Amino acid sequence: MTLQAIKYNKGKLEILDQLLLPTQSVYRDILSVEDGWKAINSMQVRGAPAIAIVGALSLAVEMYPKIYEDKQELEKDVEEKLNRLVKARPTAVNMKIATHQITSLAKELAYNDLINLEEMKAKILGSIEEMLEKDVSDNKSIGLIGADAIIKQKNCNNGSARILTHCNTGSLATAGYGTALGVIRALHESNHLEHVYCTETRPYMQGARLTAYELVHDRLPSTLVCDSAVAALLQHEQITAVVVGADRVAANGDTANKIGTYQIAVVAKHHGVPFYVASPLSSVDLSIPSGEHIPIEERSDKEITHVLDKRIAAPGISCWNPAFDITPASLITGIITEHGMLDPLELEEKVSKFKCLQKE
Ligand code: MRU
Repeated sequence: MTLQAIKYNKGKLEILDQLLLPTQSVYRDILSVEDGWKAINSMQVRGAPAIAIVGALSLAVEMYPKIYEDKQELEKDVEEKLNRLVKARPTAVNMKIATHQITSLAKELAYNDLINLEEMKAKILGSIEEMLEKDVSDNKSIGLIGADAIIKQKNCNNGSARILTHCNTGSLATAGYGTALGVIRALHESNHLEHVYCTETRPYMQGARLTAYELVHDRLPSTLVCDSAVAALLQHEQITAVVVGADRVAANGDTANKIGTYQIAVVAKHHGVPFYVASPLSSVDLSIPSGEHIPIEERSDKEITHVLDKRIAAPGISCWNPAFDITPASLITGIITEHGMLDPLELEEKVSKFKCLQKE
């Protein structure tokens, strides 16, 4: 059985409620854009690619039965609904990029006299529905490219890799297979994975709850470690490479990812361990020159002060709970995209070329 965070069929959308994992596996119907917004904002669905796909599909679900007066009304509806979805979570850029692509298409079709209302609706739905398949195929390419680079590293003992990853970047964070976890899956599929370590990823525990769930589900040789054990792990265990995902990569290669990523990159540099970011182009934001311009979501104190609704922190203490941090490009060995391994320094030039080609 493959793990599936998103189930979709022609106007019917269900998501696996990730707040209940790993103890319960419950799918929730998403019947509207409002349901999609709530599922993303409450983190029933999370992970940058999955956020965009569920957001866009929630619009598709609303569009199917709706009768529009004319093409302008359809264009306005698409734009308004997508702009609302972008605000559900601010750091991951995928929803913003998807919004730009879909609204540009809607605008173009609205002013094309050769296309009627029904055709316009069908084309917009088609472009949304394509996102699912494209994400899985991009992830498979990322997996192969990343695995190939790691196997070729000098420190990869007889082609047997020992990987550290952070947060959850797998089937639960994407349409399937995963980005950083896709690289780990590809290593395993080609018999090059000796072991994978995943961090707990406090305070939301995406590593302990979700990545560990995926690793056990797929029977990968794996071990869970506390976030605070990373330096000791890199000191004592021969780790071949660190591979993490991305919520937003700025034009200069600075990368926003789950809180704790930056400190892992610093420690990896100290120990001479290559540090890779696995990121589809849908997470690269060329409109942002560097990491300092990326908005960082801050979440509630309760995520730190409580464990399973029981208060553990001393009453009265104040908290700071950023959900993401920025890893400077200088600490990143390579950015693994579906188009190849990119040096952060060449990211802007190469990605603008790929994005131009995609438009043609
Ligand atoms: O807060 P989350 O769980 O949405 O954060 C997820 C991450 O930081 C992932 O590493 C990132 O979105 C990449 S998922 C392929």
